[in-house]
Amino acid sequence: MDNPYVFITRKVPEETIEPIRQVADVKMWDYEDEPVPREILLEEAAQATALYTMLSDQIDRELLSKAPHLKVVGNLAVGYDNIDVEAATEHGVIICNTPDVLTDTTADLTFALLMATARRLTEAEKYIEKGYWVNWSPLLMAGQDIHHKTIGIVGMGRIGETVAKRATGFEMNIQYHNRSRNEKAEQELGAKYVSFDELVETSDFVVNLTPLTSETEGMFNAEVFNNMKESAIFVNAGRGGAVVEADLVHAIEEKQIAGAGLDVFEQEPVPDNHPFLKFPNVVCLPHIGSASIETRMEMCRLTARNIRAVLQGDKPEAVVNGK
Ligand code: GLV
Ligand code: GLV
Repeated sequence: MDNPYVFITRKVPEETIEPIRQVADVKMWDYEDEPVPREILLEEAAQATALYTMLSDQIDRELLSKAPHLKVVGNLAVGYDNIDVEAATEHGVIICNTPDVLTDTTADLTFALLMATARRLTEAEKYIEKGYWVNWSPLLMAGQDIHHKTIGIVGMGRIGETVAKRATGFEMNIQYHNRSRNEKAEQELGAKYVSFDELVETSDFVVNLTPLTSETEGMFNAEVFNNMKESAIFVNAGRGGAVVEADLVHAIEEKQIAGAGLDVFEQEPVPDNHPFLKFPNVVCLPHIGSASIETRMEMCRLTARNIRAVLQGDKPEAVVNGK
């Protein structure tokens, strides 16, 4: 029998895919920062037993219906909104992701983004670069305090809980909203469960960490921004699709809120003329929540182990649609 065939949609470190090479023929799209074109992805999917995918690859019904040998898709991310999981399940394709290994790293970045926005870090650096720093003055680059303020976390999964843990070190008042209660966070971190409306109205920092689903899509809209405090800072490290971006642009222009820190966008990559980039009080990052070297290497290793497990008929460590 032929070896299984695995297509990897981006150049990933060779050492991390050794477990797959031991059991399968592997082909890797050889560009580090260029996504595989759709037509090549479709051609490869038609042959592949396994696909090793990125957030930028759309694994939809069309692709799945043209992939007769496909057994598993290993997505290099915790989120999997780029994959039609229902269609995959119908086609008997197992979907794997990379939870847990990126939780602390993503919580670190989320908190860094909150702090950078509150204390105007990127704006302050640009100020020096532009040669504006000629005098010190009492309110020079004065931002907002973080300590003892109220953080409202929307989406209290593993990452949300870990952001809350970071917040305890800053003696913040922690509240959250989630589909279900997180009793561990309530007991161990003193997080208070509130309704979405209450969270929006009373938080100094509104932090979105929800996955993108039909329920969360567009949940941060004009009305929600309008209901936030004028001093509030909105932080998004979940998915850009949770935000109606035109409404956020309007809220910033009208000073309905004080600023925003964004690691994710409706369309990624963001073009360099995106309206967010012209606001000094909006900090934009290129979707780097889990981007530490240690964590990205671990995500690569986990994706390889997930795929190998399915190819060998074993249960993968992290499966989205399996039993
Ligand atoms: C990144 O956004 C991820 O889902 O891992
Ligand atoms: C989602 O899976 C999370 O870890 O918050």
